[in-house]
Amino acid sequence: MPLANFSLEGKVAIVTGASRGIGRAISIGLAEHGADVVLAARKPEDLEDAAQEVKKTGKKALAIPTNVRRTEELKKLIDETLKGLGRVDILVNNAGTNPVFGPIQEIDERAFDTIMNTNVKAIHFLSAFAREAMLQNESGGSIINVSSLGGIQASDVIGGYSVSKAALNMLTQVCARTWGKDGIRVNTISPGLIKTEFARALWDNEKIYNELVGSSALQRIGLPEDMVGAVVYLASSASSFVTGQNVVLDGGRHL
Ligand SMILES: NC(=O)c1ccc[n+]([C@@H]2O[C@H](COP(=O)([O-])OP(=O)(O)OC[C@H]3O[C@@H](n4cnc5c(N)ncnc54)[C@H](OP(=O)(O)O)[C@@H]3O)[C@@H](O)[C@H]2O)c1
Repeated sequence: MPLANFSLEGKVAIVTGASRGIGRAISIGLAEHGADVVLAARKPEDLEDAAQEVKKTGKKALAIPTNVRRTEELKKLIDETLKGLGRVDILVNNAGTNPVFGPIQEIDERAFDTIMNTNVKAIHFLSAFAREAMLQNESGGSIINVSSLGGIQASDVIGGYSVSKAALNMLTQVCARTWGKDGIRVNTISPGLIKTEFARALWDNEKIYNELVGSSALQRIGLPEDMVGAVVYLASSASSFVTGQNVVLDGGRHL
């Protein structure tokens, strides 16, 4: 066995927002490293399609349609994972949203609640439910929250989203501090601009795209696959002494 062990063999991972974009790539990547994967998102067809991709790695994949804004569905997600695959070792809180683009004073109450409920409240409750299941494991567990560069840099066009991701960064640290003694590690990845549907308004705009590429050390935007290595590291025992940390994956945009 190598000193740094990245294997996820025998582990069960739950990934939210797993049907497309970053969550889909993470689900496949975790399975390629040995984990069985439970995929959660709202639309069943897309989710089943992603689950079929995960199965091609030879690992088990379970698609469980879930709206993370409904707390009772989060509880059901953990219960069905335990019923179907027997344990929970890894949770990737990836589902996130940003329904508005513009100055922060224009965000109405409904949009503000949607942002905070998806990007913060859902992660709090799903992590707490997952912790209960992880306490049954001898080896504890690893929770990885998908935050954003927007959580550490103020934005004048996606301000509500920035506030929610900053809150998520602190939620990560609070959980890491509180649950370390339970053997549960909690970390964050913060992607820069990644080529997914979610961020199309940015990378499809030639002016914004050129500015972002020009200001990046690696001279490109990210792909969903660029997120996988850090997640596998944080999920595995290779990162056994890492908790409460934020790994920024932005191609060196803020150096
Ligand atoms: N792309 C970027 O540039 C970028 C940068 C920084 C951070 N991020 C973060 O990365 C994460 C993933 O983003 P992405 O770019 O991969 O987005 P995406 O391609 O739009 O995928 C979003 C995924 O989340 C699911 N989802 C959305 N709302 C949900 C809900 N209420 N309940 C359950 N699932 C839900 C979607 O499926 P359904 O619609 O079927 O539910 C889909 O599977 C988000 O947290 C985002 O904030 C993205």
